Amino acid sequence: MENELHTETESDIVGGMGQTPAIETLGLIKRFGATTAVDGIDLTVPSGGVYGVLGPNGAGKTTTIRMLATLLPLDGGLARVLGHDVATEADSIRSKVSLTGQFASLDEDLTGIENLVLLARLYGYSRPAARSRAEELLAAFGIADAGSRQVKTYSGGMRRRVDIAASIIVTPELIFLDEPTTGLDPRSRNQVWDIVRALVAGGTTVLLTTQYLDEADQLAGRIAVIDRGKVIAEGTTGELKASVGSGSLHVRVLDPARRSAAADILRTILAEQVFEEADSAAISARLDSTSSVAAALPAFEAAGIGIASFAIGQPSLDEVFLALTGHTTENDTADDTVGEHTT
Ligand SMILES: Nc1ncnc2c1ncn2[C@@H]1O[C@H](COP(=O)(O)OP(=O)(O)O)[C@@H](O)[C@H]1O
Ligand SMILES: [Mg+2]
Repeated sequence: MENELHTETESDIVGGMGQTPAIETLGLIKRFGATTAVDGIDLTVPSGGVYGVLGPNGAGKTTTIRMLATLLPLDGGLARVLGHDVATEADSIRSKVSLTGQFASLDEDLTGIENLVLLARLYGYSRPAARSRAEELLAAFGIADAGSRQVKTYSGGMRRRVDIAASIIVTPELIFLDEPTTGLDPRSRNQVWDIVRALVAGGTTVLLTTQYLDEADQLAGRIAVIDRGKVIAEGTTGELKASVGSGSLHVRVLDPARRSAAADILRTILAEQVFEEADSAAISARLDSTSSVAAALPAFEAAGIGIASFAIGQPSLDEVFLALTGHTTENDTADDTVGEHTT
């Protein structure tokens, strides 16, 4: 790696080459006994937008975030958050950064509004100002009605929203959202996505961890894929998808008897792996480039092979992850030993 961390030089302070990244790490390491949870992670998170850290359970996402949030000391490497060194300038980082997710700190016996008022008071709001900020946030997150109920009566989705509301009482420059939608139903998940988008629109940089490829695809500008404590790929979703080939081709012939002739034509034209699927009329082919695909249709016609459908699709991020790691992101929630996911 030829990355170099920003050091606090004059040129950075006056702007230097563009904006200082929100987060930069170099060779980040954390060990727990014999387990190396974070094994040399290099990250550059630009300021603004959502940066996704994607990885399966146990990949090292939470450990990374806890180090960046100054909750856990580093065993090796360097990290700067909003221009401050996590090892020596923790106070500056804590005053600017917000964290929510797998270790929520809501008081279960208090109501939603009481929790938010309490936190706003801790931030120095006067009593009436705390009350109005709490009400404003509950309304914005669509939980005004539930505000007067104890948090312990809330559904997972409501709790997650109050948790995020609690973390943005004061608009943070940077927020860590650690698996904010894990365990949520699709509707609550969409609500959390809307909140994330609203945070970004308000100027906050979001570092979001997720096990869900489609979530990273939906929200994040750039993504780091981590597995077993290492970054195994980094880029935009488009770049990650392109890295495993541009997509796949799905063809159905009208007459299953002509399928193998059609498959031979595709093999010749595409010079790619062509699969005859269980469905006796269907063929699929990997595409590393779509440029030669168009030649297939006239070739089928010339051979007198009727085609029922012909479609090019992008690979899913699941296929991307499988291609990068050799294993899927299968979500073994039964073995969720680390996070206290709200269920
Ligand atoms: N406090 C801890 N003590 C011992 N092992 C831990 C601790 N926290 C995390 N680990 C281990 O470190 C690895 C990474 O965990 P974690 O960062 O929580 O992953 P993720 O958030 O991606 O699921 C896992 O193998 C986990 O069991
Ligand atoms: Mg975690």
